[in-house]
This record gives sequence, structure tokens and C-alpha cells, in this order.
Amino acid sequence: MTKSAQFDFQNDFPHDFTWGVATSSFQIEGAWDADGKGPSIWDTFCLDKANIKDGSDGTVACDHYHRYREDVALMASLGVDAYRFSMAWARVQPDGKGAWNEAGFDFYSRLLDALAEKNIRAHITLYHWDLPQGLQDDGGWLNRDTAYRFADYAREVARRFGDRVEAIATHNEPWCTANLGYGNAQFAPGVRDLKQSIQVSHHLLLSHGLAMTAMREVGSSAKLGIVLNQWTADAATDSQADRDMAEFEYARSVQWFMDPIFKGHYPELALRGHGDNAPVVHDGDFAIIQQKIDFLGCNYYFRSWCSAAVPPVPAPARHGVTDMGWEIFPEGLPELLLKLKAEYPDLPPVYITENGMANADTIEGGQVHDPERIAYVRSHLAALKEAMDAGVNVQGYFLWSLLDNFEWNSGYAKRFGIVHVDYATQQRTLKDSALWYREFIAARATA
Ligand code: FCB
Repeated sequence: MTKSAQFDFQNDFPHDFTWGVATSSFQIEGAWDADGKGPSIWDTFCLDKANIKDGSDGTVACDHYHRYREDVALMASLGVDAYRFSMAWARVQPDGKGAWNEAGFDFYSRLLDALAEKNIRAHITLYHWDLPQGLQDDGGWLNRDTAYRFADYAREVARRFGDRVEAIATHNEPWCTANLGYGNAQFAPGVRDLKQSIQVSHHLLLSHGLAMTAMREVGSSAKLGIVLNQWTADAATDSQADRDMAEFEYARSVQWFMDPIFKGHYPELALRGHGDNAPVVHDGDFAIIQQKIDFLGCNYYFRSWCSAAVPPVPAPARHGVTDMGWEIFPEGLPELLLKLKAEYPDLPPVYITENGMANADTIEGGQVHDPERIAYVRSHLAALKEAMDAGVNVQGYFLWSLLDNFEWNSGYAKRFGIVHVDYATQQRTLKDSALWYREFIAARATA
């Protein structure tokens, strides 16, 4: 393929940079009770129609469980190097404890075979929010014991698949599990309790550390790490109140998960701010959590805009907002990565494990024109390159998402895919952004 001038900046990325796409189990698999799978907290959460904006659920989703071959072929046609997906814990251990479900492991084994056949490397995530309901019945992430159950699950996955995958991330965005699942009830299990959410965040970090040890014990060759959603926090004005708010926001969201892993303690500012809501930490917990990770997965979508005024000063949104109402702010990505590099001298190689946008796409005559998404990805890649030029070691980029899918409490109304899904027929159609990404990746081959 001739490299058009349009893709010139591809030349700037290292030749062996990993280009990928990402999905997660609950958002695409469907087959919610197939072949012995147990229910997850998201299956339960969706039973209350009021929890999901369009009243939908994940019972069928993109039916990827039955169509994974077609979806892998689609990825191969795009020329991606890698695929990031998550495993549904309740598929391989229906109750989250006790017996393994061989049929569940079989599914992931077949998926890994299909990927290997196309030379697509697998980056798996152990936990992308779909906790087995059986563990929720025992107290979920508020119960410290769940961290130990998670380590058992991690060990088993690493034992079986550790040599067949490129990377294993323990958690996807524990911030969301804690804050949206237990803080404001937007996500499963739908709890609204600040103190609980902070305790949950500690158990998630503990579970990460326990899982790292468990996976190292079985001697897996996969790179091991964690995926965090991260942002910079900008004060809306120069006022002391706004600046304090921004500082606290960064501490409670970004440093809260980074400091324990890299420094072995919680950030002082956030701990102080949490006051009586600070988590119960056992002796030795930080020694478990603070372990060398082989990579950091960074999911970047927007910045946090901090205004203490009532009503708040709106974000300027110079580049517009996405269909989620999220401010488009590519400048935040290099700012964030450089901040992380400065704050954490041991920062391992970084993968951008998610980045992308929801767009109000429509399909006409078998085509989906989504120039907004192409512009979004291009601007974020240019921003990413800036960070790399300034010395941040970034090794890959995973576009969220391969497919339109179940966008959690927004249901199917928000489309993040570079591939359009017609949910009535399960027909997949490449959007313009997919065609663009394909050419962009292919341009490297001739560089
Ligand atoms: C992230 C989630 C992912 C998807 C995107 C839009 O927070 O990890 O599952 O919902 O947002």
C-alpha cells in the first residue's frame, strides 16, 4: 500500500509499536448463561431496568461468544498487532470460588487459538467489572476475602494461559469499580456509600498485589500489570478553592492507585481528605501491593475539570465534547504521562490500553461516516507522540473499541466502536474510522 501524506505521522512511531483494539467480556460476549457460566453482578444489576438508560442488558450484547471467529477475522482484516479483551470470571469459575468450569476456559482457549492463527497477540484483563454474583452474595469487594479469591482465579488463568498471551492485567480501572460501583451507584453492584467505596478501593489494590504474587509463582511468561483510568485535574480558575479541588481530585483518583503500587502508601493529601472514611489497612498490605509491574495500562478519555463554584464553571471544551458529554482534550495525555514519569521514577513501559470516543453514528447504504472519531484518534496519537518524544516509554495503543457494545449504564445507546453493530441482525460494518485505522497501521509496514 502506498503511504499517503495523510498518515505521515505514523513514521514517527517506533516500528515495533503495538497497535491494537480493546473490548471487555460483559460488553460484547452475551451468552450470559451459556455452558455453565454463573451470573455476574452486571447480570444482576441489569435486572433492574431503571439502572440502565435504555433498559437493556448484556444477555446477548454483540453475541461475540458465538461470533468470535468472525470478530477475529475482522481484526485481522484491520491488520492490528494485538487485541485487548477481558475474561468473564463467572464463565471460568461460576461462583467465583470452588470448581473451575472447563467449558468456560475452552471458550477463551479457542479465542486464543483463533488470535494466534492470525498472529494477533493477546493482552488479557482478568477483571473488567463482572464479579461473579456468588462472591457478591458473600460481600463482594467490601469483603477482604474476595481479594484472596481473585488471586486464586489469577493463578489459574496464568497457569493455563500465561504462556499463550503477551500480557495479563489484573484490574481494569479499579477507580470505577470503587467509585461508580460503591460510591454513586451508577455501576454494579449499585451501592452509594463513600466509606465503602474507599474500603473497596483498598481491597482491589490488595487483590492486585496478591494476584501478581500468585501469577509470578506459576512462572508465567506474560508481562503482568494493571490498567488504570487516569487524567489530569485542572482548576477552572485561579481561585484557591478551585486549585485545592484539582489537587485533591488528582490525589484521590490518580495517586490513590499509583502511590500504593510504586511507593507503598496512600497519598497523604487524599488520606487526610478522606478523614474517617480512610480504609482499614492491615499490617503488611502495602508490602503485598507494592510490587514491580511489567507495564502500566493507562486508559485516557478526558481531563477532570475542577470548579468549586455553584453552579460550576463549565469546561471550555475547545475541541468539543463526545456523545458521552466528555470534553475532548488531547493535550491532557502528554501532560498526564509526563507527570507520571516525573512522579514515579520506576514507571514501567506504558500501554495506552483505552482511548476512543462515543459518537452518534448512523449507518446509511452500508457506510458509517465518523470523521469526528478519526479526528479524535488522530489528535490523541499526535499528543501521545509528543509524550514519547519527551521521553515517556510508551509501547502500544489500543483503540476503544473494536465494536459498538454495551456501554454499561448507557446501554447500547452510546457507540464507541470503529465497527458498527446492528443489534437486530448482529451485522458488523466497518466505519470510516476502521478504514482509517487500517490504513494508518498499514502505512507502518512500508515505513
Ligand atoms: C472505560 C471502560 C470501558 C468503556 C469505556 C468507554 O471506562 O473501561 O469498558 O466503557 O470507558
